[in-house]
Amino acid sequence: MTDHYAVIGNPVAHSKSPAIHAAFAHQTGQHLEYGRILGSLDDFAGDVRRFVAEGGRGLNVTVPFKQQAWDLLGDRSPRAEAAGAVNTIIVLDGGLLRGDNTDGVGLVRDLAANQGFDFDGKRVLLLGAGGAARGALGPLLEAGPTALILANRTAAKAVELAATAADARVRGCALDELSGQRFDLIINATSIGLAGSTPAIPDDCLAEGGWTYDMFYGDEPTPFCRWGTEHGAARALDGLGMLVEQAAESFALWRGVRPRTPPVIELLRSGAPER
Ligand code: ATR
Repeated sequence: MTDHYAVIGNPVAHSKSPAIHAAFAHQTGQHLEYGRILGSLDDFAGDVRRFVAEGGRGLNVTVPFKQQAWDLLGDRSPRAEAAGAVNTIIVLDGGLLRGDNTDGVGLVRDLAANQGFDFDGKRVLLLGAGGAARGALGPLLEAGPTALILANRTAAKAVELAATAADARVRGCALDELSGQRFDLIINATSIGLAGSTPAIPDDCLAEGGWTYDMFYGDEPTPFCRWGTEHGAARALDGLGMLVEQAAESFALWRGVRPRTPPVIELLRSGAPER
């Protein structure tokens, strides 16, 4: 019998996850189907229950349900626990559900393994203090930077999030407290790009040879990618690689097989038709 998986979100029609998982399944010879579920804004739990009752084996959870998924699942991995959000639901034998979060590890894998960024001795600036930033915090620290500064429009949220790390390398501050500082990598985890804009950070806060990374992606360069290019970034990357890497981690959790990601990133970059 073919195992069923899906991404649940609202909206969800734009999601590239079905194309990514179809490519992984093809590459690894796994038999599975992966669809899209338009989650109801007032009955996420019911949607998950129905999917499982119909024999579903796993879900990816996307905006706006990641926190609700965390609330729903009592059994959560340590990294989901730390992230405060669940992006992967695993249906265990007997229908029990386990929540995990593969977003942060996806970000770090894309930067380190795909792009070759060496975190050792580097100063990293993470912009934002919402769910996306929170999920990235633990995996970024594990990657080994010298300093990780969290800067947010609402400073108190960055300070609070920094405190959860309990790590001397981490500090939270307001966006306007960054003047005079330089960073080797600046990561955008704010949602301001959706409004076509970029966080208000000093023009000179990117170190010589520094990189920028936007957790978002689009068919056109995102506003933060453009900011990076205009401010001399050696690399100005978008979040397409992170999307594929978080999917690969979910796939490995479900199927016990790790797909190779570079050809799938390449496939999506080339604009191959989506399923
Ligand atoms: P997500 O789950 O995508 O992280 P979120 O939890 O709503 O979404 O967080 C959105 C982040 O984008 C926050 O850090 C938010 O800053 P505030 O905490 O000050 O709200 C940031 N953000 C959104 N719009 C912004 C803007 N116009 N300028 C600067 N930061 C913005």
